[in-house]
Amino acid sequence: MLEKLPKASHPDLLVGLNTIDDAGVFRLSDDLALVQTVDFFTPIVDDPYTYGAIAAANALSDVYAMGGEPLTALNIVCYPKGTVSAEMLLDILRGGFDKAAEAGCLIVGGHSVEDKEMKYGLAVTGKIHPEKILTNDNARSGDALVLTKPLGTGIVTTAFKLGIIPDELYRCVTDSMLRLNSIASKLAVKFGAHACTDITGFSLLGHAWGMARESKVGFVLYANHIPIFAGTEDLAEQGFLTKGDRSNREYLQGYLHFDKNLSQNLVRVLYDPQTSGGLLISISSEVADELVAELRQQGVADARIIGRVTKENSQQITVVKA
Ligand code: CO
Ligand code: CO
Ligand code: CO
Repeated sequence: MLEKLPKASHPDLLVGLNTIDDAGVFRLSDDLALVQTVDFFTPIVDDPYTYGAIAAANALSDVYAMGGEPLTALNIVCYPKGTVSAEMLLDILRGGFDKAAEAGCLIVGGHSVEDKEMKYGLAVTGKIHPEKILTNDNARSGDALVLTKPLGTGIVTTAFKLGIIPDELYRCVTDSMLRLNSIASKLAVKFGAHACTDITGFSLLGHAWGMARESKVGFVLYANHIPIFAGTEDLAEQGFLTKGDRSNREYLQGYLHFDKNLSQNLVRVLYDPQTSGGLLISISSEVADELVAELRQQGVADARIIGRVTKENSQQITVVKA
C-alpha cells in the first residue's frame, strides 16, 4: 500500500520509505542523525502496568534495531471511557514511563483520543551516528544470523486469553516482552553487524525475508537451533494461533522452502507474530560466536546463531532441520 504514496527525498534523509526498515533516519550533522519511529497496539496482557511497559519496550525496539539510542518519546493513547478507568489508564502510562526511563528515554508529551478499543504506544526519537546505522539491506553472503529472544509470544498470549497456560510460561513470555533490546543493539554495533531488524508482527520468517529481500541474498535457517518458549509448539498444536499466522503465510507465499520433515507446529511458531521480539542480526561468521558469548554474558541468555546468509537462492528463505 505504501508503494502508492509519494516518497520523501532529501540529501540528509538516510533511511526513509524506500526500504522496509525499522525507523526513519535523518542526518543533522556529520556525526549526528535522528532516528524516528512509532508503534502502538491493543492490550496484550491483563495487567495495565505490564501492558504499558511492554508497549513501550516494543516501540523503543525499532530504535535499537537501527543501532540507535532512544532520547525522547511521546505517548499515544486511544481509550474507551466506559471500560478503562482513570486508574487503569494511569497504570498503563506509568508502565510506559518506567520502561522508557529504564531505556534512558524521557517521555516529553503525548496525545490521547477516545476510541472503541484501548491502544497505547510511543512515538520515539533517538540519536545515531550517520555511519553506524544498522539497516536491513546489508546482510552479506557468508554472514551468520543471530536471534536474541525466543519465539512464541503470539501463540502464548492467545492461549492465555482463551484458556489456561502454566504460570511459569506466562511469566517467561512476559519477562521476555518486557526486556529491552538495548544490550543486543549495543553489542551488534560494537561487533560490526552488517544488518539488523527486530522481530515483531511479521514473524521470524517475515522479518527474515524482508532482510533477505532488501539485501538481495538467501537465508538458510536451522529450525532446531531457533529459540522457542517451552510449550509453544503444544499450544500451536491445540490451535492457539493469531490472525497473523494466516496473513504471514499469504504474504510470504513463494519465498519460503521448508525441509519436508519439519514439524508443522514448529513451522507455526516461525510464522507467529511477535510482540517486543528479539533482534535478528546479520554479522560476519568470524565474530558471530564471540557476539553470542558476549550477549549471553551480559544477560541476553537466549541469543543463538540460527542460520546463515548465502549468495544462492537470493531473496528466498530455506528452513532446514539443523
Ligand atoms: Co521493527
Ligand atoms: Co514497529
Ligand atoms: Co534495522
